[in-house]
Amino acid sequence: NIKGFVFDLDGVIADTSIYHSKAWHQLADELGVKWSDQLADDLKGVSRMDSLELILKTGGKQNDYTQEQKEAYAAKKNTNYLDLLKGMDATAILPGISDFLKDLAKHNYKLSLASASKNSPFVLKQLGLADYFEKKVDPATLKHGKPDPEIFAHGAEVLDLKPEECIGIEDAKVGVESINGAHETSIGIGDPKILHEADINFEDTSKLTLDNIEKAMEVGQV
Ligand code: BG6
Ligand code: MG
Repeated sequence: NIKGFVFDLDGVIADTSIYHSKAWHQLADELGVKWSDQLADDLKGVSRMDSLELILKTGGKQNDYTQEQKEAYAAKKNTNYLDLLKGMDATAILPGISDFLKDLAKHNYKLSLASASKNSPFVLKQLGLADYFEKKVDPATLKHGKPDPEIFAHGAEVLDLKPEECIGIEDAKVGVESINGAHETSIGIGDPKILHEADINFEDTSKLTLDNIEKAMEVGQV
């Protein structure tokens, strides 16, 4: 019996994942690390410092920089990212999400946010969606990032719900793994080949409706 929904932010609620990608691509170029679609996919859902580590590792440069230098690069990426978000408003909300959130509220589902992003309070405010997500997991409190189940487990806890009562929604492979590890029902948004571990898959957010979710659960996709 589903009582709550735990949302990822970047790439699920807003189209910000393309800006994360752009900003990392820029930094990879500066570091002389070859960018690829695979790397872009692998970075989805991954925390800021872990993302930098992954980029350095991809280029065989993981031992080339001090912690201080790494922090400076991560800060630079974030400045670039925030520049790309300048002027962001509700038009950055992905298709169908506003209606879906309204419908969830109408049916008294509880909502929480399980985003790895430290910018999520700012982003939600710009989008005008902060009121829906009073309950959030603070990524600064986490021991392990996605794919560890910790963040989605907390997403259910902040709602006072059991994991089995929650559906988690993600666009990242590591995010789907985190939801599954937390024993929630997982919805993957995007390429089913990449998100094949999701209980339910939708190509894009416009398909994300209570009707479609109920149908998918009835036909036993789950
Ligand atoms: C995730 C994004 O939501 O947050 C990642 O999918 C990003 O791309 C991560 O690296 C951390 O975000 P931030 O805003 O704290 O650097
Ligand atoms: Mg995401």
